[in-house]
Amino acid sequence: MRITLSVIKADIGSIGGHIAPSQKLLEAVRVHVRRNGEGMLADSYISHTGDDIAILMTHSQRVGSEAIHKLAWDAFLVGTQVARDQGLYGAGQDLLKEAFSGNVKGMGPAVAEMEFEERPNEPFLFFAADKTDPGAYNLPLYLAFADPMNTPGLILAPSMAKGFKFVIMDVSHTGKDRIIELNAPEELYDIAALLRDPERFVIESVWSRQTGEQAAAVSTTRLHNIAGKYTGKDDPIMLIRVQKDFPATGEILAPYAIGHFVAGCMRGSHQMPLMPVALNSGISYFDGPSIVSCAAFAMREGRLTEPRDAFDHPFWRSVQDKVAHKAVDMRQQGFFGAAMLPMSELEYTGISEKMKRLEARFEIRD
Ligand code: 13P
Ligand code: 13P
Ligand code: MG
Ligand code: MG
Repeated sequence: MRITLSVIKADIGSIGGHIAPSQKLLEAVRVHVRRNGEGMLADSYISHTGDDIAILMTHSQRVGSEAIHKLAWDAFLVGTQVARDQGLYGAGQDLLKEAFSGNVKGMGPAVAEMEFEERPNEPFLFFAADKTDPGAYNLPLYLAFADPMNTPGLILAPSMAKGFKFVIMDVSHTGKDRIIELNAPEELYDIAALLRDPERFVIESVWSRQTGEQAAAVSTTRLHNIAGKYTGKDDPIMLIRVQKDFPATGEILAPYAIGHFVAGCMRGSHQMPLMPVALNSGISYFDGPSIVSCAAFAMREGRLTEPRDAFDHPFWRSVQDKVAHKAVDMRQQGFFGAAMLPMSELEYTGISEKMKRLEARFEIRD
């Protein structure tokens, strides 16, 4: 059976600043999707990560379906009204366009979708991150799909021996998508050379070279490319199919033990380590730290099992402690050097305004 997985997420308002949506807001989105998705959706799952609400849907309407995108857009509109009524912060934050025009891409919400012939058993993972951007997944995806030091399956499993194809997007390019396709392992150094710059080059999808099947889909939205100014970080979502011709769940999860530094956190303008957290976690220290959650599912004819919380396990406690220490260490250097993002990525105009004013006061000494 041909199934499409679509996940569409947006920040439409939260409690106490950018911490988490209210239960009432989540319920409003849930009720809208349940009522209006009847007959169209095989199943759905609504959750939040930090202040972002994600609507995961299974259906047979194909990728980019207007009906599916409109369902999510309308659910976010209904939710925004609830957010306004409750006085939530940033009500409708990620809805950047007035009227729906066929597809939520380029309108603010993040989208990750893939379509495939469902396997007799179809395990997959749904990742959602808050207070960071899509480049946050570059390192974990590189390790999981291209490095046998992380993924023994690349040398053990004959079905993965041909490696994976990476589709990488230049997210600084506005207008039409600018992408490149590169194959691991032959073009590993070229892949690495691009992925080292996660603010510009972002993995959009990963494909099995053995079967041509899609393994991963990542949202690549850049909110400030749409709005022309800072409106919030582009908190990214991702879908990954696992097992058999794809890496095992544990191989996909392993890189998150690093707690690597990503762009985001306070005012979307810092470098902070990424903390794996339980589903439906909120935000705290320094509007962060940047967090990532993972719901694991099995699926049959589009019907989902209950989610298994992949990071809710004793193993991740010491990783969380390590990330907290890394976060505090980085914060000790305040706005200096590596702690704050470079000028091009600052989400506020304060520094460039100061620079302009100070330019006039610089003098060349003889
Ligand atoms: P299989 O059951 O698909 O062989 O999976 C084994 C595995 O992934 C252990 O990591
Ligand atoms: P969000 O993008 O998650 O809304 O966070 C905005 C922010 O600037 C937090 O400091
Ligand atoms: Mg927010
Ligand atoms: Mg957010």
